[in-house]
Amino acid sequence: MASIIEGKAISQKILADIKSSVASCARPPCAVFVRVGEDPASVIYVNQKQKIATEIGIKTSTILLPQNVECEMLLDTIRQLNEDTTVDGILIQAPLPTLEMQEAAFAMVDPTKDIDGFHSYNLGLLCQESDRGFWPCTPAGIVELIRSTNMDLTGKHTVVLGRSLIVGKPVGLLMLQKKEFANTTVTFCHSRSKNISHYAQDADLLIAAMGQPQAITADMIKPGAIVIDVGINRISDNNSEKGYRVVGDVDFENVKEVAGFITPVPGGVGPMTIAMLMKNTLLAYQRHAHR
Ligand code: GUN
Repeated sequence: MASIIEGKAISQKILADIKSSVASCARPPCAVFVRVGEDPASVIYVNQKQKIATEIGIKTSTILLPQNVECEMLLDTIRQLNEDTTVDGILIQAPLPTLEMQEAAFAMVDPTKDIDGFHSYNLGLLCQESDRGFWPCTPAGIVELIRSTNMDLTGKHTVVLGRSLIVGKPVGLLMLQKKEFANTTVTFCHSRSKNISHYAQDADLLIAAMGQPQAITADMIKPGAIVIDVGINRISDNNSEKGYRVVGDVDFENVKEVAGFITPVPGGVGPMTIAMLMKNTLLAYQRHAHR
């Protein structure tokens, strides 16, 4: 029976620490969110980020642009935020209307204000194992959850299921680093991989980030493995008032009987992402203050 990695509680401890650091800042750190259109998930995410920031003393504002905004107008908005010395962090909420627009917008953000860690410059620094950049928030949160197990993973096998730029690729690179929490051998699997079970069964650390509800079953797990579930999937549930419930990519109830450690959904990786965004905002403020 696995130990449950309590992401919610771990995130609250991190947020409390950030709150006390923020309280001793000369001025409140400031993050600006840019949201384009009314994508319902984006509305919820940005509101959550604002609420938590406010609770810990970080100043925020949100710039809303219409779904049919011209790319140039969006880029101009970002340019102004880059130049505004009262703004420490900038977050462009994805998805944007087109992938081209998203790429152009992420590239426009001043890398020293890139609290999401999505700019190529920061992803490059991560590849170089430099501490000068920003780590993307979900991978950074996953690292904290792994550290909370106090397991020595040196030489062990990490299997990442998923190859997105936001989660899969960076978390694999983090677990490859020459750092005490990492030093693992990393395998990436994805939608075109053959025989995913074969790799999953050998994983000492399994990170599921494919976006397929409850696809990872108990027979795919090495006994005692650390299982990190990044999935957030809605499945229909007639017993629920809303008619649906949220599940991860892992079949939690059965996998927890085999794994050594497991993150729940909700309450695992999700709360850590926002905590790491707040940490990056404080870091951006501190770096700007010391320039
Ligand atoms: N959309 C979904 N997840 C994220 C995230 O972590 N950051 C941003 N900016 N957009 C997202």
